Amino acid sequence: MKISAQIFPRPVALITTISKDGSPNVATFSFIMPISFEPKFVALAVGENRFTLTNLETTKEFGLNILKREQVRLAQICGSYSGKDIDKFKLAGLSVEKAKEIRPPLIKEAPISLECKVEFTQKFGDHYLVVGKVVREIIREEKFDPLLHYTGDSFFTWRSLISP
Ligand SMILES: Cc1cc2nc3c(=O)[nH]c(=O)nc-3n(C[C@H](O)[C@H](O)[C@H](O)COP(=O)(O)O)c2cc1C
Repeated sequence: MKISAQIFPRPVALITTISKDGSPNVATFSFIMPISFEPKFVALAVGENRFTLTNLETTKEFGLNILKREQVRLAQICGSYSGKDIDKFKLAGLSVEKAKEIRPPLIKEAPISLECKVEFTQKFGDHYLVVGKVVREIIREEKFDPLLHYTGDSFFTWRSLISP
């Protein structure tokens, strides 16, 4: 059984990066984890053949754009093709916004975007753990239903908050 079917649900984000020659890319990630409150740090696990990894290694910056439940189709499109082969911004009809502290663009449709600078990369098995420091945050919506991932093409939605 895949680890994604053992540890779930996980929030879904579109990770935006940029190549050395300045062309942007976007890809879907659910292996994401908050690490520190103050300053904020986040971690991603990036598969070894992802174009996103090449960009992260060369330009060391990324945008983490959280998705909401209505955006499941965007998650599927940006997670099904590689930026090596296709412009996923066009394919998914995404609107971009210029970031202030990093070079990759942000996704305007996302309720939250975090501008991050890579501080650490280490290979573990078939993925690379990439840790980024959050250098700016953009909150477009405070109340939204996050899109949650199970495994493969299966997602969850969030029903209600519970308190112990
Ligand atoms: C919902 C969803 C979540 C995904 N999560 C991850 C992830 O956390 N790490 C990863 O390496 N790939 C993940 N993928 C796969 C990548 O998005 C996919 O391989 C994509 O084509 C990579 O694009 P790139 O080559 O442009 O970087 C996910 C795919 C989907 C649909």
